[in-house]
Amino acid sequence: MIIEPKTRGFICLTAHPTGCEQNVLNQIEYVKQRPIKNGPKKVLVIGASTGFGLASRITAAYGSNAASIGAFFEKPPSEGRPASPGWYNSAAFETQAHKDGLYAKSINGDAFSNEIKKQTIDLIKADLGDIDLLVYSLASPVRTHPETGERFKSVLKPIGQTFTDNTVDFHTGEVKEISIAPGTEDDIKNTVAVMGGEDWQMWIDALKSAGVLSEDFKTVAYSYIGPSLTEAVYRKGTIGRAKDHLEATAFKITDALKDINGQAYVSVNKALVTQASSAIPVIPLYISLLYKVMKEEGVHEGCIEQIERLFNARLYAENLELDDAGRIRIDDWEMRDDIQAKVLELWKQATTETLPNIGDLKGYETDFYNLFGFKVDGVDYDKDVNEMVDIPGLQE
Ligand code: NAI
Repeated sequence: MIIEPKTRGFICLTAHPTGCEQNVLNQIEYVKQRPIKNGPKKVLVIGASTGFGLASRITAAYGSNAASIGAFFEKPPSEGRPASPGWYNSAAFETQAHKDGLYAKSINGDAFSNEIKKQTIDLIKADLGDIDLLVYSLASPVRTHPETGERFKSVLKPIGQTFTDNTVDFHTGEVKEISIAPGTEDDIKNTVAVMGGEDWQMWIDALKSAGVLSEDFKTVAYSYIGPSLTEAVYRKGTIGRAKDHLEATAFKITDALKDINGQAYVSVNKALVTQASSAIPVIPLYISLLYKVMKEEGVHEGCIEQIERLFNARLYAENLELDDAGRIRIDDWEMRDDIQAKVLELWKQATTETLPNIGDLKGYETDFYNLFGFKVDGVDYDKDVNEMVDIPGLQE
């Protein structure tokens, strides 16, 4: 079939298998040139199909020859209906990994559930024995608690007072003011339940009790801080409370891993266009200005550049520097004073008329379409493509 993008607000309902494949191949090529010394060998990635998780899986596999199990929640294709992009990404990754002699298997289902944890542990036991790295890169709007059955919904709201500022609809380029009413105590509780550290801890507890964590095991989860511009709605908002919880959980996990000399880290990453971030109000305007400034300064990175740097210059480097709160920082270039001063200056000038010149709206839009395999260089979108793609290592 011929597959075209069908967008609804900040999501795209279709995905292109060839475009997704090309994105994955480009990421593989990038990492192959940058091998990791003493990198991971047996890796589990939760949230492995898109964004930072996919980049983590590719970096471990192609930077360090690691065997990888990827867990994710993606929609398979049906006749005439393309799969979700993470499905095609995972298919492309595993097809290539198998050609290159790398172990790669996947589990598609709700990683918050006990069933998926058990299935993953059984697979590790059967095929790998143990793992030496777990990357926790899950981003979800909802979670059903595995013990109580309660369903939590995360929200992106400020706390305490209404937040009012500009945002951009990147489809139309219109810059307009939005106001978001503050979240309630329940909103905070729900968001922490979905995006906080409880599920990460549950994974570690389950893996450790099953005896499938190696000596010197490491685990890393991803967080975000960002500038004062987005603070009210991000770091000091409901999602920020969840990130506080995630960061606190790293210390608890490290304590629980003492006997195997294990270590849990949180890495603070850069703001990037992913399916998760395009849903956050204000962030698209911030990102389009940030991209412009970082590209001009020659320090722009995408997911793969960020994660390759995380592995090579932080996690597996000889000296791992942490910030005052014990976190890894690879948002260091985003947060540079000169970069942030320029973004703030541009923010004040941003209107529907000025943004095409002062911001990188095109870059934002291209990245957004790329997430779904569209507008990828070198792909012929007029060519008929088979939507029915299998993931070769998918576990039933
Ligand atoms: P993403 O939307 O690209 O990826 C989310 C992943 O989670 C996908 O693999 C998806 O299949 C999986 N997933 C969602 N629900 C699931 C479920 N119930 N069971 C199993 N898998 C499930 O998101 P992105 O942006 O890569 O986010 C990953 C982490 O990085 C999040 O913690 C996010 O807060 C963090 N982060 C993101 C930044 C950004 O600008 N995008 C910046 C800094 C941190």
